[in-house]
Amino acid sequence: MTTATTYAEFAAREAHGVSPTYERLALAVSRDEEVLALLGTLPPAKRQPNLLFGVVRFLGGPVEDPAAFRDYTAANWPAIEARLRTRATQTNEAGRCAVLLPVLASLPQPLALLEVGASAGLCLYPDRYAYRYADHVVGSGEPVLECAATGVAPSRLPDVVWRAGLDLNPLNATDPADVAWLEALVWPEHAHRRARLRAAAAIVAAEPPLLVRGDLVDDLPALAARAPAGATLVVFHTSVLYQVPEPRRAAFADLVRGLPGHWIANEAPGLLPYDALPTPPDGQALHTVLALDGTPLAWTRPHGQAIIWFGQLCPLPDVSSVTAELDSDEEVGG
Ligand SMILES: C[S@@+](CC[C@H](N)C(=O)[O-])C[C@H]1O[C@@H](n2cnc3c(N)ncnc32)[C@H](O)[C@@H]1O
Repeated sequence: MTTATTYAEFAAREAHGVSPTYERLALAVSRDEEVLALLGTLPPAKRQPNLLFGVVRFLGGPVEDPAAFRDYTAANWPAIEARLRTRATQTNEAGRCAVLLPVLASLPQPLALLEVGASAGLCLYPDRYAYRYADHVVGSGEPVLECAATGVAPSRLPDVVWRAGLDLNPLNATDPADVAWLEALVWPEHAHRRARLRAAAAIVAAEPPLLVRGDLVDDLPALAARAPAGATLVVFHTSVLYQVPEPRRAAFADLVRGLPGHWIANEAPGLLPYDALPTPPDGQALHTVLALDGTPLAWTRPHGQAIIWFGQLCPLPDVSSVTAELDSDEEVGG
């Protein structure tokens, strides 16, 4: 696929209906020979729309007006290029804890959490956030993670005694530049997600987790071995495996199945070999698959906005009944 096609497809498939700003911008870039030529000097993985738009926003450049964006990009290319080469798209969305929580709450407590692809580790604090599933509230304080749920919602927060993250490029919630980068990755219209990110990053910065630089296959056994005895080890990941090539995904699945404890995956369909999945609830919206120990349980929305249990009934213990209308909402990007 050419870079022009990548941007046109991004406009049509990812930004359309979600971010008018990025839809307009991506379409303009797809037709702009000068910006495309600049992008052509970079490795293919560094040409992607989310990365370019995030870098320009990180540097304080304009994204609302495509002509102003083009002028800024041409005039500031050395600074933009340097960041494109060193930064990566690693959006960290605490909202995804809302779909992890019912599974975490159902496991034998206390828990030792190990997240692969943790980014800044915001999803390692499911016990510190508040949640609202329709009118069913769990926890207190900020951020409050809203989730439309059919069937059930958890009745308790998990008891977390150890938390560790593994990432090729861990970000540091105590570093203002890393938090600014995470903010720049949130799409322009999604102010509520930026507010959520700031609130979650403050919690993480107050008590940073153990974050280890490493690969989810090569370095997982050594980190898992550091989990304390007497706690249930839970290896989990959300929106990571799309960045991992297929042979490595299979190697990771084999590896994690051999570890003690439990494995929670929340990933796009097609990335793990599930036997059969029901039809997603809404053909237009992107959904991810929530699975426990290799068994798919529910469709989830990519930022944790909704859980739709397969068969309407949650198979997990220790959850109370709640029924909510699904929100058609909202974003999928970023
Ligand atoms: C889109 S971010 C998701 C972050 C977090 N899981 C969340 O849901 O908010 C994906 C993360 O996976 C990391 N990653 C990608 N491939 C990896 C690998 N082979 N080993 C470890 N981390 C990896 C990236 O560096 C990035 O931080």
